[in-house]
Amino acid sequence: MGTGTVQSSDRRATVSLFSRLRTARGQSDPFPVYEELRSRGRVAPAPWGGHLVMGFDLCDRLLRSREWAEPDQRWRARQGRSSRWNTPSVREMGHTLPALNPPEHTRVRRAAGSFDRGSIQQMSKGVTTTTIRLLDALAEQLRDGEADFNAVVSEELPVAVIGGWLGIPSADWPRLRELTHDQVFAQELLPSASQLALSDAATRELRAYFMDLVRERRARPGDDPVSRWIATWDAIEPDREKADAGVYYLALFVLLAALETTTSMLSMAVLALLDRPWWWDPLAADPELVPAFVEESLRWDPPTHVITRVATRDGELDGAAYRAGETVHLMVGAVGRDPERHRDAEQFDPHRSAPGHLAFSGGIHYCLGAPVARLEAQTLLRELVRRLPRLTLVRRPRWAPRIAFRRLLDLDVAPA
Ligand code: HEM
Repeated sequence: MGTGTVQSSDRRATVSLFSRLRTARGQSDPFPVYEELRSRGRVAPAPWGGHLVMGFDLCDRLLRSREWAEPDQRWRARQGRSSRWNTPSVREMGHTLPALNPPEHTRVRRAAGSFDRGSIQQMSKGVTTTTIRLLDALAEQLRDGEADFNAVVSEELPVAVIGGWLGIPSADWPRLRELTHDQVFAQELLPSASQLALSDAATRELRAYFMDLVRERRARPGDDPVSRWIATWDAIEPDREKADAGVYYLALFVLLAALETTTSMLSMAVLALLDRPWWWDPLAADPELVPAFVEESLRWDPPTHVITRVATRDGELDGAAYRAGETVHLMVGAVGRDPERHRDAEQFDPHRSAPGHLAFSGGIHYCLGAPVARLEAQTLLRELVRRLPRLTLVRRPRWAPRIAFRRLLDLDVAPA
């Protein structure tokens, strides 16, 4: 058989594995598919160009290496006008933090600030109050039988935390949440034309909303992050329009980054617990175990399964040659179960000495909101096992047909 034939049959096999990922079965358990992909090597050609990277250490190294960059605006423009990288919503994302490279990235990341221990402590009381309110609402519904944990709790907590932090009126939260579900297709691995059209419409509405918000805060500054970002941007950017655009992209991306991912994290940690009911009592008896349980659930099945980078020069990765400008897709969902990294990778074990996951990426783009996401998940699990009787899963959840961004559509529970 000639090399061309081998490559084309390899390509067909990989295409078919990716089709399986989009089925209901592939969504509820993508890991057997990842296992098959891994059996082809830690670096395998992606059917649409570039490579898939399946090894933990390789992904970790790549995320920290200056030789790999984000697909930024210049790279996107080179992909041609008809490419998916040049649709309106994807172009808009090209201005946000995770699509910037240094030195622009350094400037914008500095302007964004960070969640230090003090600011997380400040947020903590509000997160606990909201969590208790949502668990009370869940308990109320459970009196009549079953309730959808995803809708009642996991969809509500992140928007209340980030919406409250940004000072967005609660009446706007449901619409913003819906828009983020549509917008995420611009960040998916292989979005369809109709998904990108949804994302374009959502992006237009989000742009109008956040540009208005920036104008309002400029007219009436308050004690909130958007007002602080305006002051920071005014100090580094003399052009007022560019400063406002900088604040808009920051506020937009923080909302997009914070909602769906955290919702998935909350439901997936709770699903991990429902599937292992023997953990309920130990977690209730010893809240110190909760952070390790949360980290293990991020290793087990993180909200983001794929991160993309672009080669800045020609080179070789684990024997596979690549050219400058080619993409790699880091399969960070799969690498949590990489047997070369984790002993008994297929065991859910919160007692691991080194949990080791790349759920929040790595290097200069390490997730800015990781401390907030952790605060929410830890508070939720702690209060859940303390306040509610043991719950049981009524039926296996349904998932949205995604590849990069996991999304549970429901999580129906009942008292055990
Ligand atoms: C479980 C929840 C979350 C997950 C799994 C997650 C995951 C990620 C990942 C994988 C990246 C890096 C993308 C890349 O390397 O190209 C990232 C970046 C980012 N995340 Fe998160 N995120 C979560 C929650 C949040 C929250 C709550 C916020 C805001 C409060 C946030 C804000 C950001 C920002 C601003 C960036 C861009 C950082 C940069 O490019 O410098 N994220 N996140």
